[in-house]
Amino acid sequence: MCILKGKEIVIGVTGGIAICKSPELLREMVKCGAKVQVVMTKHAQEFITPLTFQTLSGNLVITQLFHLLPESKISHVALAERADMIVIAPTTANILGKIANGIGDDMLSTLVMAAKCPVLLAPAMNYRMWANPAVQRNVKHLKQDGYHLIEPGFGDLACGEEGKGRMAEVEEILEEMEEVLTGKDLQGERILITAGPTQEPLDPVRFISNRSSGKMGYALAHVAQKRGAEVILISGPTSLIPPRKVKFIKVGTALEMREATLREFQEATVVIKSAAVADYRPTVKEERKLKKSDSSITLALEKNPDILEELGKNKGSRILIGFAAETERLIKNAQDKLKAKNLDLIIANDVSQENSGFSSDTNQVKIIDQEGTIEDLPLLPKGEVAELILNRLKEMRKRKG
Ligand code: CTP
Repeated sequence: MCILKGKEIVIGVTGGIAICKSPELLREMVKCGAKVQVVMTKHAQEFITPLTFQTLSGNLVITQLFHLLPESKISHVALAERADMIVIAPTTANILGKIANGIGDDMLSTLVMAAKCPVLLAPAMNYRMWANPAVQRNVKHLKQDGYHLIEPGFGDLACGEEGKGRMAEVEEILEEMEEVLTGKDLQGERILITAGPTQEPLDPVRFISNRSSGKMGYALAHVAQKRGAEVILISGPTSLIPPRKVKFIKVGTALEMREATLREFQEATVVIKSAAVADYRPTVKEERKLKKSDSSITLALEKNPDILEELGKNKGSRILIGFAAETERLIKNAQDKLKAKNLDLIIANDVSQENSGFSSDTNQVKIIDQEGTIEDLPLLPKGEVAELILNRLKEMRKRKG
């Protein structure tokens, strides 16, 4: 579920060419169920008319400081009181300087001054302007004053040059908004998450692996980071983009995953092992591609170390959460693994079910603890499953201290 649902968001729109991304940002917010109020500066109206934003938001666009809202309160104060968040996209060097220096000479700058909600700035400007010492001084001040700022990206600029100054993409701004609005109940935790399959090479072109997509582990990393945890994501090969702001370590084989996990384990307060580690690897990795012949061949496999079992033996005060991928006797097998690997929780996953387990975007799991309590969750998007697993972690942390 989108965190923006039901929230009152103000989009401040200023006069820069990146304004072309603002209607899309507005549409996405409305799609999430947010109530959006657009405030435009005078210069913004040189690029796009208020009608565009009014049509997309379904609300009157505020363009002037002395503009009365229907309830006839002074609008910048009324809006500043009600808003859950203000996002200024694009943020020009001009508005950046005004906010940093306490200047309120139009509706948007005055609104920001009166705001008690979080304010997110998405700067967009020519790269020399962004690098200008005065702009950088303002950026530093704004961060110190508690403003949230999503740095511009590197790329082609509207002026025909290339450099750092492009406004962040709509998707990134939405993600940042979600992060700003999410409660930081996992702050102080350092969570090590493993995800995806491992690949065990047979020769330079072939390997043994499994169907894990990594989606569950990446969802856990994304949600844990949003909730304030420091996250280390160790991942086998997947086609996914790692969540922003997590320490990402890419591995190939089970032995590589073991090495990275043991190294990062030292500083972790929690470990969540959602990776589908290959239990066996080919005894010999051929240096050259295996050529076919007329006869059948037999592969010799040797056992990989059980990483989670090893962690369980040295867990100390850490909280350990494992996954059990099963196709039969789900609860019994999961409970055996919980005990054998000395875990605090195990997430039992029936991977033979449609829409659940490997590759799918949804998952249906049971969360089993050491006391034998079984929490049976319905079929949910993996992001929501991640939220519920992390809620259990939070409860456990409260009990354990
Ligand atoms: N695991 C691990 N190292 C392995 C195998 C598994 O760390 N070599 C971890 C997985 O990341 C998961 C848990 O142990 O958190 C259970 O993995 P699973 O594949 O369900 O079970 P296995 O212990 O491998 O047993 P089996 O394959 O026989 O079901």
